Amino acid sequence: MRTIVHLSDLHFGRVDYAVRDVVVSTVQALQPNAVVVSGDLTQRARSHQFQEARQFLDSLPRPQIVVPGNHDVPLYNFFARFGRPLDRYRRFITDDMQPFYADDEIAIIGINTARSLTTKYGRINESQIAGARERLCSIDNNVTKIVVTHHPFDLPENHDEDDLLGRAQLAMTVLAECGADVLLAGHLHIGHTGHTAVRYKIAGHSALVVSAGTATSTRHRGEANSFNVIRINHPHIQVERMIWQPEAGAFTPAAAENFQFSESGWKPVPAEAAAGFVFADESEVITGDN
Ligand SMILES: [Fe+2]
Ligand SMILES: [Fe+2]
Repeated sequence: MRTIVHLSDLHFGRVDYAVRDVVVSTVQALQPNAVVVSGDLTQRARSHQFQEARQFLDSLPRPQIVVPGNHDVPLYNFFARFGRPLDRYRRFITDDMQPFYADDEIAIIGINTARSLTTKYGRINESQIAGARERLCSIDNNVTKIVVTHHPFDLPENHDEDDLLGRAQLAMTVLAECGADVLLAGHLHIGHTGHTAVRYKIAGHSALVVSAGTATSTRHRGEANSFNVIRINHPHIQVERMIWQPEAGAFTPAAAENFQFSESGWKPVPAEAAAGFVFADESEVITGDN
């Protein structure tokens, strides 16, 4: 059993500090096995914004898998943008552009999809796809394989297709070969869970595509601040969205979505059928003695 907290689109520079503080305390209380941050740590890639993002990360549990977003590339400074676009990200956040974590139940790989030549669109390149193949294909399929990008592999219905990750089709073919289970992303500022089977139609494979809303920023797209808690106990996965409730000053869970692995990939399971799924270690079961 593993618990992953999935945060995205922090946008330091446009942060609601009251929300930020409750994100920190809520995530600390969840005691996750890993924290994922899927990009846009800052609003304008300025040093003081990255410093605040660094302090925020330092207050959260580890290990952390962090990738940059389009907002982490300087927009107005021409030399920084094209000469050394992720210089500040590398200095304050991490120099590791393909972060990786694995244990005997989960493997998480982060891929940088932010690019200098566009202000908003993202893409993945062939060497990144090869790197993901090298790491994920060698891992046993009983380990849940998770890929983190800023730009998403799938979109909510009727969403602008421009927000889709560039070259996603090429990447998806390889990720399917390696048995990728979950694709985590941000960028939309909308919480959404989809399946690759609908868009990519690769026989015998369907990964979950989980987008997170903005955890801490005031850049809402018609949704309150949110983040995801993903619980994994193979062959079951639960995705729970934590939604900010301003009156209560707290994040509360929305109805959880449950999934089970099958011959054709990850399939949704109705709540009644999922009631028997176990997402707690036996050692953590409270007996009533304490
Ligand atoms: Fe964003
Ligand atoms: Fe973005």
